Parts: sequence; C-alpha cells; structure tokens
Amino acid sequence: MITLKDVDLFRKQGRARRQILRHCNLNLDAGCQLAIMGESGAGKSTLLHLIAGLERPDGGSIQVNGHRVDQLSQEQLPLYRRRIGLVFQQFNLLPTLTVADNILFQHRLNELGNPEEVMDTLVVPLGLASLWKLYPDQLSGGEQQRVAIARALAHHPPLVLADEPTGNLDEATGDEVMEIFTRLSRALNQTLILVTHSPRVAQVLGRTLHLRQGQLHD
Ligand SMILES: Nc1ncnc2c1ncn2[C@@H]1O[C@H](COP(=O)(O)OP(=O)(O)OP(=O)(O)O)[C@@H](O)[C@H]1O
Ligand SMILES: [Mg+2]
Repeated sequence: MITLKDVDLFRKQGRARRQILRHCNLNLDAGCQLAIMGESGAGKSTLLHLIAGLERPDGGSIQVNGHRVDQLSQEQLPLYRRRIGLVFQQFNLLPTLTVADNILFQHRLNELGNPEEVMDTLVVPLGLASLWKLYPDQLSGGEQQRVAIARALAHHPPLVLADEPTGNLDEATGDEVMEIFTRLSRALNQTLILVTHSPRVAQVLGRTLHLRQGQLHD
C-alpha cells in the first residue's frame, strides 16, 4: 500500500546542502502498524511529511494506494491529504478554533455527520470532554497533543501518520493513548506509521524500522 523507492531529499542549511534521505526504501502493506525510530535530526518528521504530500522528494518515488504522491498536482493534493490523519510533532492546532472545532474540522470536510461517534470513541476516552469549548492556548502541551490525536483520527482516514504522539505525555497517559490509538486503528483497519523515541511505545506496534544515514533499517 505504501512504497517508497530510492527516495532522496536534500535540505539547504545556510550555504550547505545536506542529504537527509538517501535512496530510502519502504514497503508497507495496508492495515499494518509501523514504528519509526532514529536519532534527533535523522529525518523522521521529514519522511512523514513526504508521505503526507506536504513536501516533495528530490528523487525517487512515493506510492500510496497506487497514487504517485510525489506527482500529485496542486489540485489533487488537498483531496489526497483529506484521506490522511496527521499528528504533527508540534500539534499545529488551529489557534482561533475551539477544541471541538479543531477535532471536528476534517470530520465536517468529509461530511461524515454524527459527531456523537467522535465523542464516544475519541473525545471521552482521550479525556478531552471537559476541554471541549476551550482554545488551544488554554491547554497544556499534553492536552494539545491529545486534541491533535483526536483530530487526526476523527474522520477515519485509511492512513494515519503520527509524529511522536506521546512525546509530551507522562508514561501512564502515554500508555493509555497508545492503547486507544492502536485499538481504534486496528478496528478501522488503518495503516499506521508512528514516529517515536520510546522503545516502549514502538513495541506496541507490529514492526519497527530505524532511520539511519538517510535509510530505513530493521
Ligand atoms: N525547514 C527546514 N529547513 C532546513 N533544514 C531543516 C528544516 N526542517 C528540518 N531540517 C533539517 O532536516 C533534518 C531532519 O529533520 P527532521 O525534523 O526530519 O528530523 P527528526 O528525525 O524528525 O528529528 P526529531 O527527532 O528531533 O524530531 C535535520 O537536520 C533538520 O535540521
Ligand atoms: Mg521530528
């Protein structure tokens, strides 16, 4: 379902041009759950952004469900992104919208109706019900992170990309969030790629790959 073939990515840093991904390859079947680990700066967030169509590679190809993500036009990209749930490392909640509107944003775009179901499956289990009417700047980092997770899952995307979704949570809350995350994504047969620094979090998923020197290794 997801195939990266010889993906290259360069970044400009001052005058230097650094290669972040170097002939990076990945094959992941639909419905599988993958953890990606690797040192800070290795390119994990960059890799998720490429798969989400937020950036384009400098070389190689990225296929998701038969679509060449690296070749989608500006018109096609928004539709593609709607079918992805992305939990950003820095949350990226919309500051002018309440928790409720942040969570239901994609849900409404996809015209899914029935927000009750989002309450029962995500908002209440993630402990967000009492925060429903607040704005992101009224929340702690961990609360914002949980809102970002609810937002990413609310519209039942077939592909979920999560960038250190438990990075701001204490161990007990992190374990609960992972339990909810993996249970829901299995129930919906979602493909999940999750970046984490925690071996404890990674072991909950079926498979772990390590990003090192621009490539994914077992
Ligand atoms: N906007 C940018 N412009 C230039 N370089 C960038 C930019 N964003 C990231 N980089 C560089 O690209 C490399 C990979 O960054 P990336 O954010 O993908 O790392 P990461 O593996 O997610 O790290 P972390 O674990 O700290 O989140 C780093 O060397 C970083 O400095
Ligand atoms: Mg990162």
